[in-house]
Amino acid sequence: MKTSLAAGALASLATLAAAVNPVKIAGSQFVDSVTNKRVMIIGVDYQPGGQAGYKPDEDRDPLSDAEVCLRDATIMQQLGINTIRVYNVDPTLNHDECASIFNYAGMYMIVDVNAPFGGESLDRSDPEGSYHVGYLSRTFGVVEAFKNYPNTMGFFAANEVMNDMDTAEKNPQYIRAIQRDIKNYIAKNSERAIPVGYSAADVRPILQDSWAYFQCKIGDNDVSRSDFFGLNSYSWCGADATFESAGFDKLATMFEKTSVPVFFSEYGCNEVTPRSFNEVQSLYGTKLTALSGGLVYEYSQEESNYGLVDSFDNGTVHFRIDYDNLKNQYSKLDIGLIQSTSPSAASQDPPQCDKSLITNSKFSSEFNIPDTPDEITEVINSGLSNPNQGKLVPVTKTDVVGDIFAVDWTPIQGLKLVEVKDGESNLPSGASGSGTGTSGGPEPTKTGAASAMTVNSMFALVAAAVVLVVSL
Ligand SMILES: *[C@@H]1O[C@H](CO)[C@@H](O)[C@H](O)[C@H]1NC(C)=O
Repeated sequence: MKTSLAAGALASLATLAAAVNPVKIAGSQFVDSVTNKRVMIIGVDYQPGGQAGYKPDEDRDPLSDAEVCLRDATIMQQLGINTIRVYNVDPTLNHDECASIFNYAGMYMIVDVNAPFGGESLDRSDPEGSYHVGYLSRTFGVVEAFKNYPNTMGFFAANEVMNDMDTAEKNPQYIRAIQRDIKNYIAKNSERAIPVGYSAADVRPILQDSWAYFQCKIGDNDVSRSDFFGLNSYSWCGADATFESAGFDKLATMFEKTSVPVFFSEYGCNEVTPRSFNEVQSLYGTKLTALSGGLVYEYSQEESNYGLVDSFDNGTVHFRIDYDNLKNQYSKLDIGLIQSTSPSAASQDPPQCDKSLITNSKFSSEFNIPDTPDEITEVINSGLSNPNQGKLVPVTKTDVVGDIFAVDWTPIQGLKLVEVKDGESNLPSGASGSGTGTSGGPEPTKTGAASAMTVNSMFALVAAAVVLVVSL
């Protein structure tokens, strides 16, 4: 009896998936914490159902339904991406299966700590009044829920809080306060230092000031600065746009000396449809290596008309032309170039914060960051009591359920999630230098069971054997 129990434990432990290597920051770049290679974000914003996909009353958010995650992760794996961004999550829900599926597929997750309802984000019209222990505790809950997944790449502390000059007067210092509190919470309560940053609206007059404000340091032990800077960029519209007409040349100049990773947290102008995504070649090309890639807005077709796929309530998914166009663009990338830039060469010391860094008179140049209220300090020091903490679980199902159709409505059969080898992440297929790409045809060949034995599962086997011996 004991033996068979232990054998069962052994079997289930052995199926624990391989894991991506956590990402850390080195200077102005994301790097793989094990190989030290540069990590370029090749990503998609994942917001199925739009903002309404976040339904805490019904225990639903975009990472709560394993069957949907398996289907969508498989579709995005074949697209060739390595990262998703998820906007609205409920820290009390179980995300283990979804997070494990994305990990298995070699994809990182960048998670927004905020959500749309009252008390779930900073209120740009009342930053002081909305900065309180209830709100911060919720964001700490998101940290707890995601901190143990190796594929959690970072947290957005805030998204597009400043959307014009008026909102740029009082909010920046509160965003730094929130970043500081989340970073302190992570330092005290997480085994891994997970980066925290800001996602800025594509409003050119305040863009440079936002970046300058968030990347600078206040003294030598400042933790309120951003670890990375996301920029929502919709300036490249249509196949005729160029590096210059889209203002990518200005971005290259602006961020040439950045001290933190900068990337497009959203991109993909839809003024001309279907989208050709020609900007992909520029974003990952030789002239914009200052940037760390980007996330295309967005996976599913919603009212705003930015979808790569149509995703119907009955589980049917239909690829839009945009999906094929984007996949085709990814397949032309030079992965060698993308991963080559030496992190050490790219590290820049952040400038000391100073009014002189800010170009617009209305943009905040207040670097006295509001103090952390005592109640928040207490939560940071003691940790949330009994938080919901996620952990990787074995991925047991890899066959996609539901009807999937190509652009021309040809049914796609046998769609299957592919396990990426331990320590590797997903890459576009066909791209040069992407020997490990898994995003081939509809039915990619699966690695044999024996060769799929990973370091992790080896450890699990050893651990299980120890358990077996001890229990006998
Ligand atoms: C699901 O909905 C789509 C769109 O309305 C439709 O084309 C498809 O046939 C439906 N599939 C099933 C299995 O009902």
